[in-house]
Amino acid sequence: MEPIELESVAATKPYMLFGTFAALSVVYVLVKTVHALYFHPLSKVPGPKINALSRIPYVRHLLAGTTVHLVNDLHAKYGDGVRVSPNEVSFINGETSFQEIYGFRTGKLKGKQNFQKDPAWYAPPMNGSPSILVANDADHSRGRKTLSHAFSEKALADQEGLLQKYVDQLVNRLKEVTSASPEPVNMVKWYNWTTFDVIADLLFGEPFGCLQDLRTHKYIDLLFKSLKAFRMFYIMKYFPLGKYLGNLVVDHQAIADRKEYQTWISSQASKRRARDMQRPDFMELIMKHNGEKGGSLTNDEIDSNCNLIITAGSETTATLLSGCTFLLLKNPAVYQKVKDEVRGCFESYGDITLDAVNRSTPYLLATLQEALRYYPPVPCGFERRVPSGGDVVSGYYLPEGTAVSVSHFPAYHSEKNFRDPEEFVPERWMGDPKYADDKRSSHQPFSFGSRNCLGKNLAFAEMRLIMSKVIWSFDFELDPRSDNWFKENRVMTLWIKPELAVHVKEVVRD
Ligand code: HEM
Repeated sequence: MEPIELESVAATKPYMLFGTFAALSVVYVLVKTVHALYFHPLSKVPGPKINALSRIPYVRHLLAGTTVHLVNDLHAKYGDGVRVSPNEVSFINGETSFQEIYGFRTGKLKGKQNFQKDPAWYAPPMNGSPSILVANDADHSRGRKTLSHAFSEKALADQEGLLQKYVDQLVNRLKEVTSASPEPVNMVKWYNWTTFDVIADLLFGEPFGCLQDLRTHKYIDLLFKSLKAFRMFYIMKYFPLGKYLGNLVVDHQAIADRKEYQTWISSQASKRRARDMQRPDFMELIMKHNGEKGGSLTNDEIDSNCNLIITAGSETTATLLSGCTFLLLKNPAVYQKVKDEVRGCFESYGDITLDAVNRSTPYLLATLQEALRYYPPVPCGFERRVPSGGDVVSGYYLPEGTAVSVSHFPAYHSEKNFRDPEEFVPERWMGDPKYADDKRSSHQPFSFGSRNCLGKNLAFAEMRLIMSKVIWSFDFELDPRSDNWFKENRVMTLWIKPELAVHVKEVVRD
């Protein structure tokens, strides 16, 4: 018998270990792959195989700001429901899935559990106290009861003077700037300045002063930078080790910006609470009704809601105004009709009140609806989790914990829901028989159910008033450098908008 050479055994051992490890890894990956593609409960939902296996393709788009473009293409290829990552499914059949994911549990859904907000999708509160956007159902209903007084029809009517003040400032400052220089102006900035000034005055009793200074306030800049942190929280939830890779995966600066921004918001809110202003603004109404009939908020919760309202109530409205302006300038026949309506029904600038706008500008309203379809300010799906026991959405059984949403932009640009989806046609909202088969209930830009947008009426009031007054006062022409504005947009939860360069000329009347 040959003697065993101990040295050679010692040398082969690491190779054997490595070989066994490699073989086991291959088996593991194979088993995982076969399971994900053929046996996972989501394997029946169509989509690219690579997205079913790994979250990396989706995250790459998240970082590049192109998730909405990706999801749009996937729906065009695969249909109503698409598996965009191993545990995420996007839907565009708004007629069924808005109700099933976001709707009240009534009718056929009676007795079913609500789908809760997906903690991976929403950023956690900076001060530990959730705003109503991220609160659980019980806290949400307690908070929404208190906040809703600030958004009632009566409150809106009482707030008209404050709104008008900033819309007039927008018009007057635009006149000053454009009569002094022939250069185009960036309308994205002007609309942002207006809506941010309005919302800050409604909350804190003083504007950001953007229209006054013709400059974006430092904390608005910080807010835009901090919005990037939203996708970071998603990435850190699924790739917790990413935080150790420096700025390669996680933008630590965006997270720090978010902290600084919340500290500033809290100091503004405390200052406002300490002042007695006796006017129908948000803070006055929140403080007046706090504690009534089961609705109550702590100061920290109020601060978190201020943070929410500043973002939700300004950027979104300004986005729609920017998109609507671009779409009008790209569609001269529609622009002409809006001009004819607005200039025909108001004899003088002073006649443009909320009530008059609501009564006499149906075509403008249809144009805003169409802009909300073509360029929804919340373009992606805001995700919810399927509750325990699983549930069915749009005919697909989804296991507990699946992240689901209706993706707004893809739903509104699908031929399954709208005829000629790439055309800008306000007439589809005015009963034009050509568009009779449009699935209008698939259009929910303010979301749906108990957690829909609280500021919808205010948003419409601002949009209608601002558009009426600027269209009455100015002629617009798109500068060629913004010809591809729409295509140059990216998405980081909300749209990241490039400059919208517009030549603005005051209309001279006798
Ligand atoms: C065109 C403008 C706007 C659009 C398209 C829009 C859209 C939305 C959407 C889609 C949601 C649901 C988010 C989710 O599911 O998590 C939402 C929630 C909300 N929005 Fe708006 N919004 C707009 C303007 C405003 C304005 C002007 C305000 C307030 C001043 C506002 C305040 C809120 C609040 C407080 C919530 C949270 C509601 C809750 O969770 O109960 N929004 N908005």
